[in-house]
Amino acid sequence: MLKKLILTALAPALFLLGASQLGGDEFDQADLDRWQEQFMQVVQEGRDLWTDGTLGSNGVSCAQCHPNAANTHPETYPKFQKQLGRVVDLWEMFNWCLRNPLEGEELAADDDKMIALLAYAHYERRGVELEPGKH
Ligand code: HEC
Repeated sequence: MLKKLILTALAPALFLLGASQLGGDEFDQADLDRWQEQFMQVVQEGRDLWTDGTLGSNGVSCAQCHPNAANTHPETYPKFQKQLGRVVDLWEMFNWCLRNPLEGEELAADDDKMIALLAYAHYERRGVELEPGKH
C-alpha cells in the first residue's frame, strides 16, 4: 500500500525527468530556421520531380495534369478511392498516377522522392481545411 502511494506520488516527477532527458521541447530560433530551411529544400525537390518529367518512363510530368498540385486534394485523404477499391492515403494515389499516366514504377511510402512529392503537394495546399474522406 505504502509502496503504491509512493510510486503514485513520484510518477509526475519521474515523467518530467524522462521528458527532460528526451529533450523534446528544447529548441531555439536557430533550430526552427534550420528545420524550415530543410523542409523548404524538400518542397523544392518535390517541385522539381513534379514538373521535370523524370519520374515516369514517358516524359509526362505530374504538372501537365496537376499544375501547382491542382486537383490532387491532399486535404481529403485518407479517403475511399474507386480506382483502388478501398480507403487509401495520398501516396497510394500518387502511385496510381505514377503507374498509369506516367507509365512508371511505384515509389515506397518512405522513399525520399515520395516524401518530396508529398511535401510539395501539401505545401501548395497549405491553409486548406482538412476534410478527410471528402469527395
Ligand atoms: C495525364 C494526366 C495526369 C497526369 C500526368 C497525372 N495525373 Fe494524377 N490524376 C489524373 C486524373 C484524370 C485523375 C482523376 C482520376 C479519377 O479520380 O478518376 C488523377 C487523380 C490524382 C489524384 C487524386 C485526386 C483526388 O481528388 O483525390 C492525385 C493525388 C494525383 N492524381 C496525383 C498525381 C501525381 C503525384 C502525378 C505525378 C506522379 C499525377 N497525378 C500525374 C490525371 C493525371
